[in-house]
Amino acid sequence: MLKLVVLVSGGGTNLQAIIDGIDNGIITNTEIKAVISNNPNAYALERAKKHGIPAECISPKKFPDRNRFNEALLERLQEYAPDLIVLAGCMVVIPEMMVKAFPNQIINIHPALIPSFCGTGFYGLHVHEAVLARGVKVTGATVHFVDEGTDTGPIILQKAVDIQQDDTPRSLQRRVMEEAEWIIMPKAIDLIANGKVTVTDGKVRIFP
Ligand code: GAR
Repeated sequence: MLKLVVLVSGGGTNLQAIIDGIDNGIITNTEIKAVISNNPNAYALERAKKHGIPAECISPKKFPDRNRFNEALLERLQEYAPDLIVLAGCMVVIPEMMVKAFPNQIINIHPALIPSFCGTGFYGLHVHEAVLARGVKVTGATVHFVDEGTDTGPIILQKAVDIQQDDTPRSLQRRVMEEAEWIIMPKAIDLIANGKVTVTDGKVRIFP
């Protein structure tokens, strides 16, 4: 069984897709040990509790500085000893010490086709605003391993979504979630849980 800890910050629709994926067999050999949010008001925490999953908040506001927060988060993660940490709408910048403690054991969902519209400042709705401002015709989502950079780790899965002429940032965000994020995140977890993903020279290979 692949033991997951899911880190969240907001609504938690990607968390829900993982919970549903485990329930309906799209994700196999996997259990969620805990959900941790940096934001006490994240609806994702309610979603976890409704499914009997331990859910807690570790807020940076409760610590004197960022370093202490990072240490507390890492300590808690090490207590759970997960096989995989899933960033599902997690807006916390993952510190280098956490990447080193869990090499190729942290994955993230990004709401664009990396390497476009990613890096510092590209998160949540801002990504879709930038996509529409540039006028590209195709966007999508990416699941990738987390390394020391921002959105620079090895890419596991991507899925494209066509942009419609009358899209707003909100309508596009919703379609990218429905047509890409909620599909590729559960799929990536299932592939990892079944030993089908390897990383060599910074690139992912998936075995059928
Ligand atoms: C999702 O669109 C996710 O891709 C994005 O935040 C949203 C969270 O929604 N993540 C990032 O922008 C990370 N850089 P959710 O809480 O409903 O899953």
